[in-house]
Amino acid sequence: MKKTILAASASIMAVALSFGTANADPAGCDDGETVIKFSHVVADSGHPKGDAAQLLAKNINEQMEGTACMEVFPNSTLYDDDKVMEAMLLGDVQLAAPSLSKFEAYTKKLRLFDLPFLFSSIEAANAYMASEDARDLLASLEDEGYVGLGYIASGLKQFSANKPLIKPEDASGLKFRVQTSDVAVAMIEALNASAQKLAFKEVYGALQTGVVDGQENSWCNIYTQKFFEVQDGITQTNHQLLAYGVITSQEFLDSLDDETRTQFLTILTDTLKQANQQVADKEAECRQSILDANSTIRELSPEQREPWVTVMKPVWQEFEGDIGADVIEKAASYSATN
Ligand code: LMR
Repeated sequence: MKKTILAASASIMAVALSFGTANADPAGCDDGETVIKFSHVVADSGHPKGDAAQLLAKNINEQMEGTACMEVFPNSTLYDDDKVMEAMLLGDVQLAAPSLSKFEAYTKKLRLFDLPFLFSSIEAANAYMASEDARDLLASLEDEGYVGLGYIASGLKQFSANKPLIKPEDASGLKFRVQTSDVAVAMIEALNASAQKLAFKEVYGALQTGVVDGQENSWCNIYTQKFFEVQDGITQTNHQLLAYGVITSQEFLDSLDDETRTQFLTILTDTLKQANQQVADKEAECRQSILDANSTIRELSPEQREPWVTVMKPVWQEFEGDIGADVIEKAASYSATN
C-alpha cells in the first residue's frame, strides 16, 4: 500500500545523505512499481512549479497505484538544472522542468520565450503555450534524446537591485544575475549593465555578499527564495516570461508499455492544464507576501515603463535568426488578443 506522499524536503534529504542512505523513496514506492523521479530547483510549495510537481505526484500516485510511483525532489536537493539534463539521459531521473532559458545547449528555438516584453500577461503566455505552435517548439529537443511533454507557466519577471530602479539608466553599471541564457545577457547589456550567469541555488548568497547587485525573477521565486531580504526593493517591470519545459527522456518513455505510457501522459497533460490555471493567483499571493514582509515594490506608470521597453526590446533582432521571425510574430500576437 502506498504511504503518505511527501515531497522530499531539503532537511529530509540532508539528514538521509548524512547517514549515507539517501532517502530516495519519499513517496513510499512499492516493489514492482515504475519509479518516476521528478527533480526541480524551486520551493516545494507556494510556487507554481513546486505546487504543479506535488499535484502531479498526487495524481500519479493515486491513479497509477501498483503500476507507477512519483517522487518529487525540490530545492535542487537532487540536481541543479544543468546536472538534471545529464542525469536524465543516464536514467537517474525521469522528469524535470527547467526554465525555458536553460535549454540553450540543446536548442536555440526556445530562446523565443526569453525575448523581453514578448508576452503582456500570464494569460497571453498560457494561451500561446497551449497552442500547437508552442508544442512544435518542444520537438526541437528530440534530436538530443529528450521529449518535451508540455509547459508550466510561472510568472512574468521583475527586476530587483541594491538601489532603486525606476529608469533604465538606474541599472547602468550594475551587475545582474541571469540564468544560463544569452538572450538574458544581451538584454542586461542593453541596459549598459553586466550579466553573470549563476545557478539558482547560488543567487541568494551572491546578492547577500555583493557578488552581484541585482537579479530578475518571478514574484514567487523572489518571495520563496527570500531575494527581497537582500535587495533594496523590487521594480514591477513585468519584462520577461518565466516558464518551464516539462521533459523526460525518449528512453524512459520507450521503457513503458503502451497502456502505462498513455495513462502517464494523460495524467500529466491534465495536471499541467489544471496547474497553469492557478499561476496568476499564486503569483499575486507571492507579490502580496513580499509586501507583507515590508519589502518595497516600485510600480511603474506606463510612461515610466516605456523606456525599459525601448531599451531592451531591440534584442529581438539579434536572435531572430535562431528562432524564426514567423515564430516570434505568432507568439507576440497572443498578447494582442489575451
Ligand atoms: C532561475 O534559475 O532563476 C529559475 O530558472 C529557477 C526556476 O526554476 O524557477
